[in-house]
Amino acid sequence: MSRIFSGIQPSGELHIGNYLGAVKNYAELQRSYESFFCIVDYHAITIPYEPEDLRARTREMMVSLLAAGLDPSTSTIFVQSMVPQHTELAWIFNSVTPLGELERQTQYKDKASRMESVPAGILNYPILQAADILLYRADLVPVGEDQVQHLELSREIARRWNARFGAEFFPEPQAKLTPARRIMGLDGNAKMSKSMGNTVGLLEPPDSVWEKLRPAVTDPARVRRTDPGTPEVCNIYHLHRAFSPPDVVANVETQCRTAGWGCIECKKVLFEHMNKELAPIRARSVEIRARPEIVDQVIGDGAATARRVASETMREVKERMGLV
Ligand code: TYM
Repeated sequence: MSRIFSGIQPSGELHIGNYLGAVKNYAELQRSYESFFCIVDYHAITIPYEPEDLRARTREMMVSLLAAGLDPSTSTIFVQSMVPQHTELAWIFNSVTPLGELERQTQYKDKASRMESVPAGILNYPILQAADILLYRADLVPVGEDQVQHLELSREIARRWNARFGAEFFPEPQAKLTPARRIMGLDGNAKMSKSMGNTVGLLEPPDSVWEKLRPAVTDPARVRRTDPGTPEVCNIYHLHRAFSPPDVVANVETQCRTAGWGCIECKKVLFEHMNKELAPIRARSVEIRARPEIVDQVIGDGAATARRVASETMREVKERMGLV
């Protein structure tokens, strides 16, 4: 069976961007692949943070992942810092990664341009990401579009290490994208992300979701209620494609192009379908929170399984590299 691996930052609760772009796909794929899902707290410490807050966000992310359908009876779901081999392999990959490749990464350039003093961890971030994936010798990595460049670098690192130390030892991992590979924030300006403050939480109460949806940006050409629109340029239409059934999506297209519906009506229909999908997830999160011992158990078991696989990889890596 092929293996998949994916990582997610402990940003607390999931939002509909990382849910639609990645986590919903994890939940699908875990039925057909041997799966490893990792909350990447070592990646999170490359930007300023509060220790107690990080611990709470890591746990909260685990609750979100379980509520969204990740199944610990078939998948290994774990916290990165509990498996020390991730940083061990990252150090090794430091020695085969060209500096120029790191400096070319868009995410590095974005983050660094906003910082006065840039920690080396921001530059080396994709090396740790390559170690995450290759430690489990995963073939496939379900991610959103923003991670594609990091994945290219992971393949480059695998190729370089293989060429030097062991042909074909590491597979070249491929990205597995979804149609919802890039969900925009409701401001319509940028990718939905916590750092942009434009998210809709996966577990957010319906009233507050509607408060965000109601004023959300739509097709700017629809100034008056009677102006026809172009669904493809409207973020609400793209959310319909992610949440609403195909017949509803087809109707949304017609109603938009003919100005049959106003944008508020269109948003009400979206809200209804979002709720259908999100209500059971919210309900599961309440059940999981009521039983913290389940979360502890998943965290402990996940780390134990991950460590077993990771230490086997490291044994072979060290042997091939002449490390005692
Ligand atoms: P992170 O935590 O930013 O995002 C987690 C996953 O969600 C996807 N995503 C989105 N997809 C569509 N639209 C959006 N608005 C959106 N926002 C987030 C991301 O593409 C990602 O798949 N560097 C990674 C974490 C990581 C990782 C790994 C991923 C560390 N090691 C190994 C894969 C494999 C990150 O910061 O993701």
